[in-house]
Amino acid sequence: MRRRLSLIAAAATLGLTLAGCGGAAETPSNTAAPASEATGKVGVFTWWADGSEKVGLDALVKVFNTDYPGLTFDNLAVAGGAGSQAKSVLAAQLKAGNPPDSFQAHAGAELQDYIDAEQLEDLTSFYTDNNLTDQFPKDLIDRLTVDGKIYSVPSNIHRSNVVWANVEVLKDAGLDPTKPAEDLDAWIADLEKIKASGKTPLAVAGSWTQVQLFENVLLSSLGVDGYNGLWDGATDWKGADVTKAIESYKKVLSYTNTDRDSLSDWAPATQLVQDGAAGYNLMGDWAEAKFAQDGDVAGTDYTYFPMPGTKGVFNFLADSFTLPVGAPNPAGAKAWLTTIGSAEGQAAFNKAKGSIPANTTAKTDDFSEYQKSAIKDFSQDKIVSSLAHGAAVPVAWLNDLSTAVSKFGGDNDVAALQESAATTAEKFAK
Ligand code: BGC
Repeated sequence: MRRRLSLIAAAATLGLTLAGCGGAAETPSNTAAPASEATGKVGVFTWWADGSEKVGLDALVKVFNTDYPGLTFDNLAVAGGAGSQAKSVLAAQLKAGNPPDSFQAHAGAELQDYIDAEQLEDLTSFYTDNNLTDQFPKDLIDRLTVDGKIYSVPSNIHRSNVVWANVEVLKDAGLDPTKPAEDLDAWIADLEKIKASGKTPLAVAGSWTQVQLFENVLLSSLGVDGYNGLWDGATDWKGADVTKAIESYKKVLSYTNTDRDSLSDWAPATQLVQDGAAGYNLMGDWAEAKFAQDGDVAGTDYTYFPMPGTKGVFNFLADSFTLPVGAPNPAGAKAWLTTIGSAEGQAAFNKAKGSIPANTTAKTDDFSEYQKSAIKDFSQDKIVSSLAHGAAVPVAWLNDLSTAVSKFGGDNDVAALQESAATTAEKFAK
């Protein structure tokens, strides 16, 4: 348990831990199979099933097909943003001893669940064989390494604390789109102005998008140390500052679309901003891919800024890919992981996905202005771990908290949410 706690703490503090301990040392190793000898089908499990996320996956598969013409990519995607449906489907398949060749998992605490269950192969020698250790920044590799082992290959780095805005809606409400609010109170004043102009101030969708909004209100209200402390036990969930943060969340939520729970996923919420029906959408920077692919022009049609009160903080998450124990085609999986880790794979995928490459040798000259700003911010901001996207806490903790946040959307009971979040933290911090 101490190992799990230190891992959660490390993930919360560093943001980037692809952790490993325990592991699959006693299981027959898949790691000997070389990618060069791969043939047949490679089944890859993701939640990038449609829209701009599918465009990103397709860009990656195109590089894979060029790298490995003898292999066939088998798309095992299960729809549902943030893996909201996929993760439970995957868990059932793994439990039944029916793993895919590779699956998407968030870097950080989420990965720990799979490691604890001994469902992942150790990829340390894969990193060495492919010189990945030299191509990723040293501090990233340090943060990816726990007890000397690495269990997945990151495909990208996303940012959770971004507000996307419709320029016209802001102007019509008397706001200057080039001067975003500096803190939560100022943002609430802006939300009020948009409301007065007759538009939905803030678009949000169902459960996980509300959790993402919640995490960023917590971050804005509590600051970096207070936010990190929620995951490593240093911040008291029962404290007055958390009560205040939840009160702010309640206020912010009151400016969102009332049909939020019936929106199928993040994309329809972002679409409300694109359509000029809403002023803002707090969303990870996969939204940048949607704006760009839909032909919207940054600065003219839409603009973006860090969640008010979180400037200089990069709320981090990363997707990564694994080699499951018992993968039917381990050599094929290693071919896939080779493309994922490569400069070409990372450039093609991240350009289409709105994210930034983890591989520093990937070419980014033709990336969007937003992405270039994210690359700069990532290099200089304070990094914290996203709650909604598997970096900060294990899946079971996130699931409990998600239930409480969803319930709060209905009853607005601040004390109940705080109590429930505190109980959950105690449960997992024991
Ligand atoms: C993933 C992103 C994805 C987003 C919405 C996040 O958890 O890391 O790759 O675009 O969910 O589905």
